[in-house]
Amino acid sequence: MNANIRLLCMASALLGAAAQAADLAMPEGNGKQIVQSACVICHEIDPILRSGYDEESWRNNINMMVNIGAPVPKEEVENVIQYLAKNFPEKPKPPAVLVAGDVKASIEEWPVPTPGSRPHDPLATPDGAIWYSGQFANVLGRLDPVTKQIREYKLDPMTGPHGLINDKDGNIWYASNFGSHIGRLDPKTGKFVKYPMPDPKVKDVHTLIWGHNGMLYFTAQVGNVVGRLNPQTGEIRLMPSPTAKSRPYGLVVNSKGIPFFVEFGTNKVSSIDPDTLAITEYEMPHKESRPRRIAITSDDVIWLSDYARGYLVRFDPASGKFTEYPSPSGPKAQPYGITAVKDVIWYNESNAKPNTIVRFDPKTEKFQSWAIPSGGKVVRNVSVTRDGNIAIACSGMNRIGLVTIQQ
Ligand code: HEC
Repeated sequence: MNANIRLLCMASALLGAAAQAADLAMPEGNGKQIVQSACVICHEIDPILRSGYDEESWRNNINMMVNIGAPVPKEEVENVIQYLAKNFPEKPKPPAVLVAGDVKASIEEWPVPTPGSRPHDPLATPDGAIWYSGQFANVLGRLDPVTKQIREYKLDPMTGPHGLINDKDGNIWYASNFGSHIGRLDPKTGKFVKYPMPDPKVKDVHTLIWGHNGMLYFTAQVGNVVGRLNPQTGEIRLMPSPTAKSRPYGLVVNSKGIPFFVEFGTNKVSSIDPDTLAITEYEMPHKESRPRRIAITSDDVIWLSDYARGYLVRFDPASGKFTEYPSPSGPKAQPYGITAVKDVIWYNESNAKPNTIVRFDPKTEKFQSWAIPSGGKVVRNVSVTRDGNIAIACSGMNRIGLVTIQQ
């Protein structure tokens, strides 16, 4: 038997075992067979068995999966949704704990045109527009600030656009989460250029940010690297994270041009030397912490959303000191998208029902929070507008939104 055939046999034996395990875990019902055939092509059955959604969210999930190629026949879509909603219902979520306060803010939301887009990252641009990456629809969308109409720009299949950033010429740069490149869209022509990763094993390019030196810094979870793209030459340099499986994630740049990123696979926040890309890691006090995103205030203090423990964490790199604040909706609130507006912290509680937008004032150390009208269903990232408001992407509600803060 040659090596290839042996590999194939091993693969089919494994698939057979997986299918058997899935069969045991899945109750009988109309739609089960489609799930067992159409839903195990890209991943195993596990994410489905682990999930629990209401009907609306299963509908959104199936739209997402069909968008990227799950072969569910049109006439079976409804059966699959009903089967999953019945057998894998929503898991209990912590009720949102809303904190009253003096600040006035309101939240508006707009559905995006393609069902199952999973709007991932929003990006507010200097012209007042709100862009977003439609991760499962492979589009970048732009909300016109005046008409509130959304225009979509198509990217290649299986791009999975994720982090976004604009440049001074009005181009929108995107990180390819399903692929292995950074792209640049020219909204005037709708054309895009791709900058492939020098190592194809580097996938899941994640978050992008400009350095003070005109270089584009990025994180990539799969591949466990950070990197730097020179927009003049297209050259990309990579630097492995010192910790295995550290999942380099959210990224900011401080006032001295030094990028800081969080390692979502472990309990570390790290700085990057902007020239050599050498990484310095700082360990958070709790082993179980999983910092997901990162914000920075004008004093170069770093703010982390500790997704796993439900804390907002302050980190001062000058002293090495960490300070923790429990998030209002509790340990299971899953703080996620976070930013600073005029040195006040704003973030999302992505597992609270409904999701909230939380405000934390470092001066008074007081919280205030608001419910997201649609429920939000995981605000993965946020972006500050030219007016000091906050653009949000409600990934599981297929909407983008705007938090308007009365100044
Ligand atoms: C063409 C590839 C593909 C097929 C086929 C596919 N999926 Fe997925 N699925 C993905 C990818 C990619 C992700 C990971 C998304 C992420 O975490 O960013 C995913 C994640 C998920 C998740 C976790 C959801 C989340 O928001 O993290 C669930 C649940 C899921 N899939 C259900 C399904 C079901 C049900 C089917 C069958 C109808 C299916 N998948 C078929 C590619 C696929």
